[in-house]
Amino acid sequence: RPKNQWICKKIAGERLEKNEIKQLIQAYMKKESDIPDYEMAAWLMAVYFHGMDKEELADFTNSLVDTGEKLDLSAINGVVVDKHSTGGVGDKTTLILGPLLAAVGVHVAKMSGRGLGHTGGTLDKLDAIPSVQPTAKFNTALSLDEFISLVNKQKVAVAGQTADLAPGDKKLYALRDVTGTVESIPLIAASVMSKKLASGAQAIVLDVKVGSGAFMKTEQEALSLAKKMVKIGTHLGRRTIAVVTDMDQPLGYAIGNALEVQEAIEILQNQGPDDLREVVLVLGVEMMCLAKDVTPEQARNELERALSSGAALQKFKDWVLSQGGDPSVVDGALPQAKFQQVVQAKQDGFIQSIQTEEIGFCTMKLGAGREVMEDQIDPAVGIIMHVKIGQRVEKGDVLFTLHYNESQRLIEAKELDLDRLITLSNVKIERPKLIKGVIM
Ligand code: URA
Repeated sequence: RPKNQWICKKIAGERLEKNEIKQLIQAYMKKESDIPDYEMAAWLMAVYFHGMDKEELADFTNSLVDTGEKLDLSAINGVVVDKHSTGGVGDKTTLILGPLLAAVGVHVAKMSGRGLGHTGGTLDKLDAIPSVQPTAKFNTALSLDEFISLVNKQKVAVAGQTADLAPGDKKLYALRDVTGTVESIPLIAASVMSKKLASGAQAIVLDVKVGSGAFMKTEQEALSLAKKMVKIGTHLGRRTIAVVTDMDQPLGYAIGNALEVQEAIEILQNQGPDDLREVVLVLGVEMMCLAKDVTPEQARNELERALSSGAALQKFKDWVLSQGGDPSVVDGALPQAKFQQVVQAKQDGFIQSIQTEEIGFCTMKLGAGREVMEDQIDPAVGIIMHVKIGQRVEKGDVLFTLHYNESQRLIEAKELDLDRLITLSNVKIERPKLIKGVIM
């Protein structure tokens, strides 16, 4: 049987041809599938050990795209740029980049998701923005026509994924999850890129996070993932660039939905934390250079000007209003938690490391994230960090503040043993480099 040959070929370390991969994925996706899960799992495991070359990986990714709908954004009058983060703690860059890029004339049509586990999703953050109508929410359930018309009108829209994009990836991911094959760089690269390619943007900027709060724990893994994703995108005709950025500590200081929206607004007000501003500007420059005929220096100048002039903030207000949100959110209309509790340093020292993933889990326990997809999110709760790696603290200084509404949730969060999440050193520690590399 050919399907057995395909599996045997991969087990022997050979590559599958384009038509073979296509048939394999098509057969697996049939209603009465010709390929049972155990055969597909054997193939995935063979990929896990042997990897895939550039052509095979692009063919595999394309086969996943072909399992579902492909958004047609050709009715948008300009180059559409998408931006994707592999996920990190306190990553609110999309909330800033959307209006900022729109303010300098770049079309941003962004399909976003909800969060699961230690990282929050952009849609959950947008849900924290109150609506102009008391009973409604910031509306991300846009039809394709509404989405396109908003992008044409004001150059930015963020929608929840309604179309059935790359269902083959969904089915394979569920199988990878139970067969120990999630942590394979080519499989991750194909999975992420299949959804991006199906979303229809002509240009894609990938923010590959690395460190204690990211999926990729080492720089070597992150660079390898970034290179593979860029190769897939480029091979399949999309302008693709990846920036590898630090996630050894939360980005900015705020973690939790409304707290993160507030910090994003501060950046748009030309204030806010330096690290968040820098990551936004670096990603923004890449997005702008993919969409327009500008040099990186020109792009950076224009973006900085849009922040200092108030143009980006105005665009944020216009965008929020256009999707049913209340623009007075920029003057402090966000939900706030009832209670706060601080965690203090027990000794003097320099901040050596932060267990960022655990900080993310702690925020989830407070109610800011989901353990299972059905969990309800409390938009107001979260954590404000007060320190960064390398900073000197004295005994009693506040390391972070927990914002909470329910004492039972505070107890559960504190069971994570919060003291151990920040390690102090007697010797001075360097800050981790924020931008580890740009891959194009
Ligand atoms: N995120 C994805 O979309 N796919 C993976 O395989 C891993 C993380």
